[in-house]
Amino acid sequence: MPSEKIDQIIQEIKHATAQTKEELEAYRLRFISKKSVVGELFAAMKDIPVEEKKAYGQQVNEVKLLASEKFKELIEQVNQTEKKSKALDIDLTLPPTQVPLGGIHPLTTTRHRIIEIFERIGFNLSEGPEIEDDWHNFTALNFPENHPAREMQDTFFIEKNPDIALRTHTSSVQVRVMEKEKPPIRTLSPGRVFRNEAISARAHCIFHQVEGLYVDENVSFADLKQTLYHFAKEMFGPKTKVRFRPSFFPFTEPSAEIDISCLICGGKGCNICKGTGWVEIGGSGMVDPNVLENCGIDSERYTGFAFGMGIERIAMLKYQINDLRLFTENDIRFLKQFRSLV
Ligand code: DAH
Repeated sequence: MPSEKIDQIIQEIKHATAQTKEELEAYRLRFISKKSVVGELFAAMKDIPVEEKKAYGQQVNEVKLLASEKFKELIEQVNQTEKKSKALDIDLTLPPTQVPLGGIHPLTTTRHRIIEIFERIGFNLSEGPEIEDDWHNFTALNFPENHPAREMQDTFFIEKNPDIALRTHTSSVQVRVMEKEKPPIRTLSPGRVFRNEAISARAHCIFHQVEGLYVDENVSFADLKQTLYHFAKEMFGPKTKVRFRPSFFPFTEPSAEIDISCLICGGKGCNICKGTGWVEIGGSGMVDPNVLENCGIDSERYTGFAFGMGIERIAMLKYQINDLRLFTENDIRFLKQFRSLV
């Protein structure tokens, strides 16, 4: 092996550069691998005359060392270049990526607002199960045995057990609270309720109610009226009027439906209030003495009022939503409109 060839290889190694992984690999193949030029120098050993073998061997070992030192250098170089080019990949002039902001569902906002209004006048919060027994949903609330609300078309019964159903109203929580606590009771029970109804713009099989209950000595219908009057003004604005229409519920006597003046036309009459100037927001009344007694409360000493309102209904009036289905469809175009509400 002529020594010029070795010198040439040494020069080549000294001047080698690599910017990329590919160039690094080319270097490795040419100078490091078994079949590289350095490998060939080792292979040529067998043809070297014996007296020159030692010197040749030393020389070739030096070349090998040089090649591998250089290889390490090049690896470091390529790593540095890669790092730099990665850093340069950042375009500082690009506008920032938008982080999509979530929003609170309008029903949640409405529920929070209702709770806030009643908490400020001394109501606490209570909850009950969505799967209820007949006693809490109907019997304790004074529903007669053959009341139509118990029938299959209204109530989702649990199969094979007519005693267990999905609660049809939050009035069941009234019973649970009165069974557990002694008056004075002032409680608000928001929750999900279920009715066996076809889904349409005005009806749904799953919706939300909020129940209110106040039991103490000397609670009167005037207290009920004032409380709901206060609520309507806080919720819908100071100009809102409230009207009580005589009605019937098995668990209240007397009973009344609660109307508020139409928010759209202010009471003049429009298509939202069907020309009447009034819209219904719920039911109410004085707790029937039978219900108090069913729950272990002395009806001679205590009286109470109760009310139940639909949360969807209140949200629809407040935000002028005309289709109940929008609340559960998760259409982002609908939900987006409530993003700024807290
Ligand atoms: N539970 C009734 C319903 O779902 C609403 C209701 C009416 C609740 C009168 C009450 C009440 O507490 O006093 O239709």
